[in-house]
Amino acid sequence: MSIKNVTVLGSGLMGNGLAHVFAQSEDINVILRSRSKKSNPLGPIKANLDILVSKDALTKEEAEGILSRITFTDNMEEALADADFIVECVPEDMEIKQNLFRDIEPMCKPDAILATNTSVMSITEIASKTKDKSRVVGTHFWNPPYLIPLVEVVKAEETSEETMQRTMDLLTKVKKKPVRCEKDVPGFIANRLQHAIWREALSIVENGIADPKTVDDALKYGPGLRWSVLGILENADMIGLDLSLSIQSYIVKYLEDSHEASKLLQELVAKGDLGFKTGKGYYTWTKEEMDALNLKLREHLIEATKKLK
Ligand SMILES: NC(=O)c1ccc[n+]([C@@H]2O[C@H](COP(=O)([O-])OP(=O)(O)OC[C@H]3O[C@@H](n4cnc5c(N)ncnc54)[C@H](O)[C@@H]3O)[C@@H](O)[C@H]2O)c1
Repeated sequence: MSIKNVTVLGSGLMGNGLAHVFAQSEDINVILRSRSKKSNPLGPIKANLDILVSKDALTKEEAEGILSRITFTDNMEEALADADFIVECVPEDMEIKQNLFRDIEPMCKPDAILATNTSVMSITEIASKTKDKSRVVGTHFWNPPYLIPLVEVVKAEETSEETMQRTMDLLTKVKKKPVRCEKDVPGFIANRLQHAIWREALSIVENGIADPKTVDDALKYGPGLRWSVLGILENADMIGLDLSLSIQSYIVKYLEDSHEASKLLQELVAKGDLGFKTGKGYYTWTKEEMDALNLKLREHLIEATKKLK
């Protein structure tokens, strides 16, 4: 059963990006469904495609082809009638997601897959109001989804192996790097890793060991540089597991193991220092600095992913 029709529900930041991702395949038609037709998402998608064309990551014809395979609608029945794969990108709210799947299930084909792009919530809980839970799966994309290859495919308690495999095949077809998360645990795989580092980074700052810029520099100019070619467990093999064991046995007792959000983070949020949203967080930011960093990140990702092709 090959997947020919993909429907994306919710046309915010991630919904637009996912429509772009699936429309990369010439034999997939994408319907992007929004609650209202007021703001047409094809404008932001085109703007992202234009950047890729300007950086020679895509030809003009390829970009036009992607855009031509995306249809935008506010009609739910029309969006679901022929869909083989439906992915929701609505707000991170358990009840909204549960009710959405409950309400759309009767409008979907019996073998259609229902995927959720939740960042952290339990897929099993999201599926709890759906009749056929074997067709519900987590697909955790990373922002910007058209540039970051990783998608975590998360198996909920009742997700069938067929749903997992069809989802993995579809994501491979649209040139993503899907990875299987065999258990429905908070944070899946990559966010668990990221948050372990975040906890340590904030602890280092709170304990006066280094300031935020020094922590960021230590990662950017050190381990961060090698992580996209040398996995952290590959690295352990490279240095030798005997050495790895000696180091871990010594260091692990000194690492942060708090089970609460960092005090520093709580204090900054209480003061209203929210980062880019307010111009002040761990750093202070001008608009020009924020725009420049956003652009630098996109340019870096475009170049880095060209090498992965
Ligand atoms: N932004 C990220 O970096 C990121 C990364 C990975 C996963 N996600 C997840 O993707 C999902 C969408 O995030 P986003 O950043 O695109 O959000 P967003 O706010 O940009 O978009 C949400 C969309 O849902 C629509 N919407 C709002 N209320 C709704 C409702 N009650 N019913 C149906 N639709 C409704 C909005 O009109 C909008 O189109 C969330 O679950 C989020 O956690 C986000």
